[in-house]
Amino acid sequence: MPLPPLDTIPPDVASLDDYEALARERIEPGAWAYLSGAAADEITLRENRAAFERLRLCPRIFRDLSQANTRLSLFGREYAHPIFIAPTAFHRLFHPSGELATLLGASALETCMTVSTQAGTAIEEITQAATVPPWFQLYIQPDRAFTAELVKRVEAAGCSAIVLTADAPLHGLRNREQRAAFRMPPGFEPVNLRGMETVPPADRVFGSHLLAKAPTWQDLAWLRSHTKLPIILKGVLDPHDALQAASYGVDAIIVSNHGGRTLDTVPAAIEVLPSIAAALQGKLPILMDGGIRRGTDVLKSLALGASAVMVGRPILHGLAAAGATGVAHVLKILRTELEIAMALTGRATLAELDPSVIWPAS
Ligand code: FNR
Ligand code: LAC
Repeated sequence: MPLPPLDTIPPDVASLDDYEALARERIEPGAWAYLSGAAADEITLRENRAAFERLRLCPRIFRDLSQANTRLSLFGREYAHPIFIAPTAFHRLFHPSGELATLLGASALETCMTVSTQAGTAIEEITQAATVPPWFQLYIQPDRAFTAELVKRVEAAGCSAIVLTADAPLHGLRNREQRAAFRMPPGFEPVNLRGMETVPPADRVFGSHLLAKAPTWQDLAWLRSHTKLPIILKGVLDPHDALQAASYGVDAIIVSNHGGRTLDTVPAAIEVLPSIAAALQGKLPILMDGGIRRGTDVLKSLALGASAVMVGRPILHGLAAAGATGVAHVLKILRTELEIAMALTGRATLAELDPSVIWPAS
């Protein structure tokens, strides 16, 4: 039997990895396989960490840190720090209060949360409770008329951006989930998709209704014409796609391999970030996610071209361990680690984070 969530954080919890152990004891084995697993042999999942671990930092000394801060501006809004919450499905799998607990923890640390299309909580309930207007992650649904209504609805609810996920037209090959025989438990449904026409499940890939209706670049143009909200395209790994996204009028991209959960053996997000930054030449802000576990990982991502980062699994670890308190503490650890990493590399603002922060590869 999984343990109940903690009321207080044990004093020996010092890092995000410590939260993983606390979470594991509190989540059903199937849901644990869903949360921690990735596609196929999980090579990309491991590479997301290994690529950060390979990078070395280049500290500068005696710099003026008296005005140091982590503020940034994106799409005309100010954010206190560049650590955002990545969209993840069904938070109630991990804590009885679900997305509302995550939001509460996020608010305590002035953090912008992205709400998944697969959330188990109505988007209006989340935006009403939010202090930082959340972003909404959209999967374009086979039913385009419904998708257009959903976009209107999240706009009316007060979401401040649409995160359009492009790298998962179908579910990745999740062998760990299969082996654990994970099924979404009864009563879990993506409530924001209620009333939508669904496609029949198929036992084949090619020729299925799902692929027949999978989004293409034309749908990005269509979405652009249906909303004034910033569109942030998530799941870009190729510089050509980044440039094409810019030409379709997106407002930002997220360099991401979906936490290794879609196609296995693609490179780490941090590995492809420099080539995408070089291709875009500042045309669009870049966010990135995948494997962020330390403040130094945030620092490295910003040094190599990201304006902000997103965090997926560690937020769910904090949620499972101790609800809103756990989420807040995970964010607090990461924010503090980023500030320490900036101070010790002699960088007072995010604008000072450039490739010179990274020790040149020999
Ligand atoms: C995800 N991710 C995801 N992405 C998305 O666009 N829509 C979604 O509904 C989900 N759902 C989801 C569920 C779970 C359990 C996980 C772990 C991940 C991917 C997520 O947004 C992000 O890209 C990765 O989690 C980032 O990697 P890290 O931080 O988990 O290493
Ligand atoms: C996942 C889907 C929901 O990664 O995006 O599980």
